[in-house]
Order: sequence, then structure tokens, then C-alpha cells
Amino acid sequence: MMNNKKILITGVAGFIGSNLAEAFLNKGCEVIGLDNFATGKPENIEQLLKKNAFTFQEGDIRNRAILDKIMPGTDAVLHQAALGSVPRSIKDPVTSIDVNITGTTNVFFAAHQHNVKRVVYAASSSTYGDSEDLPKVEHKIGKPLSPYAISKYVNEIIAENFHQIYGLDTIGLRYFNVFGKRQDPQSTYAAVIPKFVSQLMQLESPRINGDGSYSRDFTYVENVILANMLALETPDPEALNKVYNVACGDRTSLNELFALIKKELIRHNPKIQTIEPTYGAVRNGDVPHSLASIELAQKHLGYNPKYTVGQGLTEAIDWYWNNL
Ligand SMILES: NC(=O)c1ccc[n+]([C@@H]2O[C@H](COP(=O)([O-])OP(=O)(O)OC[C@H]3O[C@@H](n4cnc5c(N)ncnc54)[C@H](O)[C@@H]3O)[C@@H](O)[C@H]2O)c1
Repeated sequence: MMNNKKILITGVAGFIGSNLAEAFLNKGCEVIGLDNFATGKPENIEQLLKKNAFTFQEGDIRNRAILDKIMPGTDAVLHQAALGSVPRSIKDPVTSIDVNITGTTNVFFAAHQHNVKRVVYAASSSTYGDSEDLPKVEHKIGKPLSPYAISKYVNEIIAENFHQIYGLDTIGLRYFNVFGKRQDPQSTYAAVIPKFVSQLMQLESPRINGDGSYSRDFTYVENVILANMLALETPDPEALNKVYNVACGDRTSLNELFALIKKELIRHNPKIQTIEPTYGAVRNGDVPHSLASIELAQKHLGYNPKYTVGQGLTEAIDWYWNNL
């Protein structure tokens, strides 16, 4: 169904955007990628640039002229560009809010004006905020705990409103702690999995915030690709203009995660066996536990995760071992 479709991927030089581009090119789509390299890297799209069906445009999602240049003829948009990270948004709320809200509004409005049929956008589990309910179900959210969480929630409100007033069709995918190849371990705001992997590879002790009992629904990037494909393909009008959790539907504590990563890395270097984590204070804005209900995505999109956390870690760690 997707063959020959022209898809715009914003944030294409980032972790998830570059994985999506690779997968959609392999499906026979034409892909236009947009990125301003705020956090993404040229090497993430190096292989993609060798493909005829891939075009790259450097630029900012807040720049309407660039969207007007690349949007015409686009069948669908996969909107991934954003400034991620809760701590980054606490340090500089103005820029995170500007990129994530103004930028997203710009992408949605341009999509409407260029008659794009569907926009699938990256929403976030941070929208559940201070809600302690487990599992997280889409219609029940708490108060946001960071400017980042506010920005991602506002994206959902804008999507709903643009459907009402302009008839724009969107699907929001609330990703839960995604991991996989090309996720940056070096950034100040690196996510826990690439950070632990790269520290262990250098025989350093990773630091766990809190006592290690906090847990997350870690989601391998292949599951995220699957959800995006299903969201783009679904012919069911009932599936449109909703937000869905995209996760494994399983949770892993940080202590368990550390043990799983260590077990995988020992295959490559037995010296890692002796390394133990250190423990520090809990981070501002962290909720103790996160676990998604994936029932809504199962019902409307036919989404079932292809990879468990363990299976994803095996693949991701092999990639880090060969590429870091
Ligand atoms: N990784 C996760 O666990 C996770 C969880 C929930 C939601 N998300 C969302 O998924 C999306 C992708 O995240 P990621 O983990 O791949 O992050 P990433 O930082 O690797 O990718 C984001 C990309 O967007 C680009 N970008 C940022 N500002 C831009 C701008 N103004 N104009 C154009 N491009 C811009 C960056 O350069 C980068 O390449 C984001 O919207 C993020 O909020 C990610």
C-alpha cells in the first residue's frame, strides 16, 4: 500500500527519524527528510543520502518557507522533529516550547494548506505527568511535570483542534522510552540505555538516579517503526484523530535494565562482569513508574510489539558494540 508514496519525515537526522526513514525507504516509499541538526547528526543520514528515493532538506520546522518548498505533493508527514529531554526543557523552557509548539503548529498548518492526507506525529508518555495510575490509558492523564511534557501535550490539543477546524487528519503516537541504534549516548541529555551501554563499554560505573526500583516501559525502535507504518496505512476512519500509546506493555526497573545490559555486553567483553552501578539522588520531574496499556493501539491499529525489551537490547547492543 505504501509503495511509491511520498513521505516527509521531520527530524530525520535524529534517532527515531533516521530509523523511520530507513524503514520507509525499504518499503519503496519516496522520503523527504527535514532537520536542522539541533540534536541530530549528519552521520545518521549518511547511508540514506546514497539512495535515489531520499532527499534531504536542511532547515527549521519553524521556517514556513522551507515547508512550502518541500511539502507540495507529499502524501503523508511523519513529524518527529522536536527538542527532546525533560532536563533540557527545565534548563531552557523557552526554546523547547518554541520548537515543540510553534514548530509543530507550523508543520500541521502547512500540511493542511498543502492538502497532505495524514500527519502521524511523535507524542510522548511524559503527557501522563504526575498520574500514578498503572497501566497508563490514553484518556487519563495527570498534570505535566516539565515544559517538555507541556509541549508534547499541547501538540495533541492542536492536532485535535486542527481536525475540528480544518479537517486535518492526524494520529499521535505516545512513545514510551524508545531505544535502539543511532540513539546518541554522548549528549548531556542522553537517554539511560545508550548512556549505560557506552559507560559499561568504557568499563565505567553507570550512575542510577534513585535506588534502581524506578521502572519504565522501554520500547525498541522497531516497535515504533511498526506503529508508524500501521498509523500511516490504516484505512479505518475510526482510527484517525486519536492518540495511542506505543510501548511494549511491560516494565523493567533500572536495576533490571542494568543487569540486562551487562549480560549482553559481557558476551563482547567479559571484564564488564565486575562493574556495578553507583546510586544518586532521584531526578527532578521523574515519576516512579511507567507502564503503558497498548489495548487502544491493538484495537484500532492492529499494533502488537514485535520485540521484547530483551530482544531489542540484544540487537541494539550489538550495534553499539560495532559502531561506538
Ligand atoms: N526517544 C524517546 O524515547 C522518545 C519518547 C517520547 C517521544 N519522543 C519524541 O520522538 C521524536 C524523536 O525523538 P528522538 O529520540 O529521535 O530525538 P532526536 O533528538 O534524536 O531527534 C529529534 C530530531 O529533530 C531535529 N530537530 C530539533 N529541532 C528542530 C527544528 N527546529 N527543526 C528541524 N529539526 C529539528 C533534531 O536535530 C533531531 O535530529 C521527538 O518528537 C521526541 O519528542 C521520543
